[in-house]
Amino acid sequence: MGNPLFREFERLVKITVLGKEFPVPEKNTCLRAFQYMSPNTIPYGRFCWNQECQLCRVTYTMAGQPDGPPRAVLACKVLVADGMQITELSDELRYNLMEVICPSPPRPSYDEEEGIDPDFPR
Ligand code: FES
Repeated sequence: MGNPLFREFERLVKITVLGKEFPVPEKNTCLRAFQYMSPNTIPYGRFCWNQECQLCRVTYTMAGQPDGPPRAVLACKVLVADGMQITELSDELRYNLMEVICPSPPRPSYDEEEGIDPDFPR
């Protein structure tokens, strides 16, 4: 039995979000795939999940169709596809995916022996 949040899937497909590649479950919507990528933020976004709020707008192209026009769609409606390249995100999605797309640098560690991390800027 799989995770009830996701539609049944047998494999992960690769999508690119703002140039960064992610494996996500096939047969699921883009918004659900974003939840797979960032399970601790997407559920707290202001998303309606039913095509009403328009806060999940994305623009994508397909890897195998370099001359294909970019398509603006709702992430809660469109299913992910292998090779999908998402080039634009709504502000709400950008905010909620920030940690996986642009992870913040690690914090300086505290060295118990020395008491102070020598790399910590003063
Ligand atoms: S989540 Fe509201 S329109 Fe997609």
